[in-house]
Amino acid sequence: MKWKALIASGGKGTRLRPITHTQNKHLIPIANKPILHYAIEAASAAGIKDVGIVTNADSDEVPRAIGDGSKWGVRITYILQEAPLGLAHVVKIAEDYIGGDNFVFYLGDNMVVGGLNKYLDAFSKSGANCFLTLAKVKDPERFGVPEIKDGMIVRVEEKPKTPRSRYAVAGIYIYDSSIFKAVNDIKPSGRGELEISDAHQYLIDHKYKIGFSEITGWWKDTGKPTDLLEANRLVLENTDPLIESGVEIDAGSDIAGRVVLQKSCKIRNSKVRGPAIIGEGSTIENGYIGPFTSIGAGSYVANSEVEYSIILKGCKIIDAGMRIEGSLLGNDVEIVRADGKPRVQRFMIGDQSRVEVA
Ligand code: DAU
Repeated sequence: MKWKALIASGGKGTRLRPITHTQNKHLIPIANKPILHYAIEAASAAGIKDVGIVTNADSDEVPRAIGDGSKWGVRITYILQEAPLGLAHVVKIAEDYIGGDNFVFYLGDNMVVGGLNKYLDAFSKSGANCFLTLAKVKDPERFGVPEIKDGMIVRVEEKPKTPRSRYAVAGIYIYDSSIFKAVNDIKPSGRGELEISDAHQYLIDHKYKIGFSEITGWWKDTGKPTDLLEANRLVLENTDPLIESGVEIDAGSDIAGRVVLQKSCKIRNSKVRGPAIIGEGSTIENGYIGPFTSIGAGSYVANSEVEYSIILKGCKIIDAGMRIEGSLLGNDVEIVRADGKPRVQRFMIGDQSRVEVA
């Protein structure tokens, strides 16, 4: 049987403001690649050729950025969602696209290291109608939470106040077409959404077979910059070192550990300690780039130190003084030294930003 993938990339992204004021959260780069690329790559690596992406009907940002999928050897079909009416609604509006095929439903803001094949195989072997991936988390109340009895999932609750296990249902689900019965029959929850957990509960109540397995190397944004930094760490830790064409490293520089230097970047009299990635055309001068840092394309870091941070495109960090750590900078952000007297800190910061000063 042919597999399809369905990827959710709609929603509002309110928890990642201010970055999401100007770009869809699924296009925020992790290790210099939009989050959504990881979902498409995972589908492609599992041999899936047909990928449906559900996007907000009022914006063409995702189709413009992602294209027709030929870059990944897949055919992408965009399915428009008129409003973020819930994940079961995402599945519901994809029914015509999916037809009778089995499919993996992948939440576009989730990332998984290690691929999908083992879950697709487990689904096929188990003969389940629905296969859930579970991850142990510290804060299950923020997720869909399963109750497990005698090795079976007997209940799934969405963001329960009193979780019945320490597991979250991760955003990678595998279904046969029984899921459409569920999403067409359930009713909106108290928050007005068609909940995917209610669809799962429907399948349990109607005696469909639910398989599951524990997932490792999983990440999901929960809204704080530190969550994106963790995703960045996870990906960089699993990235092989690479020096692309046109890269210049002078004799005074030291590149240590797993470092990716993208096209035509310049490292002058600087130390880069991986895992780290420096974007195309960026320059690092008299600087230090520490582990788990992504520097976006066309950025300039001079006389400054940056560690465990995500710096998007076109940023300038010049004479920053103290080391920048645990930070997330948007596109074209400048951190420069304030000259003159009195010695002050001067800010020009957009809505919902956060600055911590020492
Ligand atoms: O990540 C796992 C969790 O995802 C599960 O444990 C929960 O059971 C599930 O409900 C979901 O919870 P979230 O509250 O984290 O879902 P969120 O609203 O963040 O949406 C997840 C993705 O789906 C995100 O990429 C946005 C997209 N989306 C969301 C909705 C509600 C859509 O494309 N359309 C929508 O209507």
